[in-house]
Amino acid sequence: MIFLIGFMGTGKSAVSHELQKLLQLPVMEMDEELVRRAGKSIPQIFAENGEQAFRDQESALLKELSESDTDYIVSCGGGVVLREENRAILRKYKSTVLLTATPETVLMRAGGDENRPLLKDALSASDIAARMEARSTFYKECAGITVATDGKTPENIAHEIVTNL
Ligand code: S3P
Repeated sequence: MIFLIGFMGTGKSAVSHELQKLLQLPVMEMDEELVRRAGKSIPQIFAENGEQAFRDQESALLKELSESDTDYIVSCGGGVVLREENRAILRKYKSTVLLTATPETVLMRAGGDENRPLLKDALSASDIAARMEARSTFYKECAGITVATDGKTPENIAHEIVTNL
């Protein structure tokens, strides 16, 4: 099992697909799976059920994956580290990979994204920096491997991860 964690826009999803090519393991995109199960988009889940309901579903899915017999490359939602129960799962794996990026890179990749309720109002790099900072210890405590992604292609990053596994 490989868990990719990191702030929104650090490339978890793109990198998971590059890792799939190298490792021949199935990808589990947690956000996509949660959308599929709920039958509605993430902004709709946040608006209609609230963020905590989304977090409950996210935690249940993470637990389910950690107990699964299938070896997945899991692309986690950026907020998965917010709950201690999730961090306790992620910390157990040396193959929990933290992807990082500067606030400028995140702003360029994902700023104003309507599909990300927590980023759609992020208008500046300093705004994103503050949000990243609030989570940074959570990300670090879960990470077995950390890879900075600025200026690298998803393919480069996937190779770097495989070398470090
Ligand atoms: C979130 C990140 C999103 C998604 C939701 C909340 C967060 O996933 O789970 O919008 O709190 O960081 P990505 O990191 O894939 O954008």
